[in-house]
Amino acid sequence: MLTVVGIGPGHSSLLTLAARDAIDQAAILVGGKRHLGLYARPGVEARVLDADLDGLMAWLAARQHQSVVILASGDPLLYGIGNRLVAHFGLRDVAVIPGISAIQYLCARAGIALNDTYITSSHGRAPDFDQLLAYPKVAMVTDSVIGPYQIAQAILCRGLRRTLVIGEALSSGEECIHRLAPEQVAQHYAMNVVVILNEG
Ligand SMILES: C[S@@+](CC[C@H](N)C(=O)[O-])C[C@H]1O[C@@H](n2cnc3c(N)ncnc32)[C@H](O)[C@@H]1O
Repeated sequence: MLTVVGIGPGHSSLLTLAARDAIDQAAILVGGKRHLGLYARPGVEARVLDADLDGLMAWLAARQHQSVVILASGDPLLYGIGNRLVAHFGLRDVAVIPGISAIQYLCARAGIALNDTYITSSHGRAPDFDQLLAYPKVAMVTDSVIGPYQIAQAILCRGLRRTLVIGEALSSGEECIHRLAPEQVAQHYAMNVVVILNEG
């Protein structure tokens, strides 16, 4: 059986009991280097999850009869590997254990209601800023190409007023949450998610 497990934003205290149990019972763990560093253990085969997703699907298909756990950051179905696994294998062969997404965690820390939030991603894609800045509240997972600075520039060049709430390295010792006007946003942040608020 393949089980994709949401491990939350990183700190082990944010792992659900269901996630913990699945990881403890796994014969094979698949995940990014950072995630395997947290949960790999002696006697359990580990495979690094890299950009070759077609290769991963074939590798997993050959091991479906074993207890394979695929570690996904945050929630597996929110811009995560869970979507690809469910699309490829179907729900009959993949179990999904939800996790706390980085966006949920940031909203909890910053006291932002998740209601009516438009959730999107710039991770490996170019967002349509005209479309998304029409929403009063947008939450984005980002990457190193389009992050807080590029979002702030997109707001400024449209002459809009917004507040950016930036959550860096969430749940780690280096966690930092910023609440900034676009002109205050710096060029570089550690791994982050961003909430864009139209406060009127
Ligand atoms: C492939 S997406 C996965 C999102 C994940 N499924 C979720 O629900 O949070 C990876 C992005 O999630 C965000 N992310 C994941 N963990 C984070 C953390 N601890 N702190 C800040 N951002 C995080 C970053 O935007 C990162 O580039």
